[in-house]
Amino acid sequence: MARETFTGTAWITGAGTGIGRGLALALVARGMTVAASARTEADLAQLAADAKGPGSILPMPLDVTDEAAVRDTVARIEAEAGPITLAILNAGTNSEVTAEKFDTIKFAHVVDTNLMGAVHSLGALLPLLRKRRAGRIAIVASVAGYRGLPTAAAYAASKAGLIAMTESLKPELEADNVDLTLINPGFVDTPLTRKNKFPMPFLIDTDEAVDSIMKGLERGRFEIVFPWQMTAAMKLLGVLPYGLFFPITRRMVRSL
Ligand SMILES: NC(=O)c1ccc[n+]([C@@H]2O[C@H](COP(=O)([O-])OP(=O)(O)OC[C@H]3O[C@@H](n4cnc5c(N)ncnc54)[C@H](OP(=O)(O)O)[C@@H]3O)[C@@H](O)[C@H]2O)c1
Repeated sequence: MARETFTGTAWITGAGTGIGRGLALALVARGMTVAASARTEADLAQLAADAKGPGSILPMPLDVTDEAAVRDTVARIEAEAGPITLAILNAGTNSEVTAEKFDTIKFAHVVDTNLMGAVHSLGALLPLLRKRRAGRIAIVASVAGYRGLPTAAAYAASKAGLIAMTESLKPELEADNVDLTLINPGFVDTPLTRKNKFPMPFLIDTDEAVDSIMKGLERGRFEIVFPWQMTAAMKLLGVLPYGLFFPITRRMVRSL
């Protein structure tokens, strides 16, 4: 993506806090109109107040698990702010799921938000962007989607699903002139990770994460993955045969 294509209207889900909020502020500073979605309206009002132009924030409260509401929101954004040129599907949540506490309701909530939220968003966006043969959709998954680690059964399943879905759609959408980007962060200090009780190696702050994502978008990368230390560790885990992988995760289980 060339620098000048940070123009027009962006839509960010999960823009109320953390990475999504940081990206919204960065895109407004580049001059985009940013339709900002999350469930908590007060966070969107705060974002609008904090944003420094030349662009602006258009608050669009939304629960991404509600497919009809997602469709209505996308239609409203296009009616009020014009065609969406960049969508960042970032809304996400996490709940610890273990074999002992295998809570199917919590599991479903994580998958509904992380995976189905992005699916609902794609359902609304794809007909519009394919018809226009223009635009970029960036999907925020995680390096946690590379491999199933202890306590992350729900989160890893949702993120692995996002990665597979994005890879699957990429060549078809390329032919439609619609760009797809896969964003796989390592640990970033946000309200989501502040709940974690385990050590988070190579934790970075939100500004650093936003900077990596903005640079990756500018360069038109398919996968934006950071920080490099976490990338190296998780890519290596990703290719380990089970005979080497399970001794590592068994040790993790013993230290829970
Ligand atoms: N932080 C990390 O280390 C890390 C690492 C890898 C990937 N990620 C991914 O990055 C994305 C952003 O996470 P973050 O760390 O910035 O967390 P965060 O600060 O908790 O932000 C999550 C955002 O998603 C919104 N959200 C949650 N459920 C939603 C729903 N049903 N509908 C609409 N919006 C919803 C939240 O607002 P409301 O609750 O008000 O709706 C919030 O604005 C997530 O997909 C996360 O999985 C994060």
